[in-house]
Amino acid sequence: MDIKFSPPDITELEINEVTEALKSGWITTGPRTKKLEERISSYIGTEKTVCLNSATAAMELTLRILGVGPGDEVITSAYTYTATASVITHVGATPVLVDTDGMTFEMDYDKMAEAITEKTKVIMPVDIGGRVCDYKRIEEIIQEKSYLFNPQSDIQGKFNRIIVLADSAHGFGAKMNGVRSGLHADFTTFSFHAVKNLTTAEGGAVTWKNIDGVDNEALYKEYMLASLHGQSKDALAKTKLGAWEYDIIYPAYKCNMTDICAAIGLKQLERYEALLARRKEIIQMYDEAFVPMGLKPLSHFDECSESSGHLYLLRIPGFDVEHRNDVIAKLAEAGIASNVHYKPLPMLTAYKNLGFDISRYPNAYAMYENEITLPLHTLLTNEEINYIIARLKEIVEGTKNCA
Ligand SMILES: Cc1ncc(COP(=O)(O)O)c(C=O)c1O
Repeated sequence: MDIKFSPPDITELEINEVTEALKSGWITTGPRTKKLEERISSYIGTEKTVCLNSATAAMELTLRILGVGPGDEVITSAYTYTATASVITHVGATPVLVDTDGMTFEMDYDKMAEAITEKTKVIMPVDIGGRVCDYKRIEEIIQEKSYLFNPQSDIQGKFNRIIVLADSAHGFGAKMNGVRSGLHADFTTFSFHAVKNLTTAEGGAVTWKNIDGVDNEALYKEYMLASLHGQSKDALAKTKLGAWEYDIIYPAYKCNMTDICAAIGLKQLERYEALLARRKEIIQMYDEAFVPMGLKPLSHFDECSESSGHLYLLRIPGFDVEHRNDVIAKLAEAGIASNVHYKPLPMLTAYKNLGFDISRYPNAYAMYENEITLPLHTLLTNEEINYIIARLKEIVEGTKNCA
């Protein structure tokens, strides 16, 4: 067996649409990117979406557009991928990392509340594995602490409270209490990286809920400027006959999505409901096998959560890092790729150098030390899933008996 962790699910539909884009004479940001933005907005139910070259760019531009910078604090989880926190440092603000709650992969919301100061401008919850966080609780805490908020930009003044920027890199299509990711936080970012549920090879998007006193079209234009050098006309507008002249409003960034990438995304979106349904089936097969053994998967589907089923995070109670790594090595010998999500940020050099210390994040460490992420993708056959289940059972039982 050779079971990959998360290969892209690409069909003739995507290939044909990419070919059409290539033949169309327009391959960078243009009609297909705009169409993908519109389709994503109508899928979620927001008015505007901006497609960019990554979720990282979507988060960073959002922080910049919100006017977050030096002297500000942004709160996020210690249990995430570096991108969530690195963008905070890119804009010159200070990341404040909060431990998980000991039961789930989400931030401890009481500790999150304690971390809020008069410098806090944004909170970035992470919808790990595709399960939408408890945004209701986050909202309540922000309201309770609104007296501390000190707006430093026009748009911050419109909110007059801490702004919620969701890292829903994993959560495209997920629902909590029947409400789709994109309609919970003030701003929500998604990743369309090659391993994600819906891919554009590399890519990401940001969408937002309407903000009192803010014109959506004007906000959209701010993203366009920020993502394309601060240039007053995009490349397509500049190619109109005789319309060469442009201005540079400020020296901005370069992180636009190309129409070739959007072509893949358009066809993936057409197939997306079926892809989500298959992910759910696979998760149910895994859960039925592993829960009776006492293993603890991330709860994707329950009375409130309808996850996007991005990652199958599984904890093996009683195992430490050494035993967990041994399981990963044995799965590899059996031809099964697996992974760990995540090594908490305070264990990584960059964040140690910023002064973070894992001893202050005991819950995140406890989640990490016995976590293993199994293959979960729509090219898996039932035979492969049953093979993974059988091997993991053998390996876990074998390791337990030796321990
Ligand atoms: C939780 C999380 N946030 C952000 C990102 C960054 O996404 P992108 O690669 O599209 O920038 C990732 C990528 O894997 C991620 O897992």
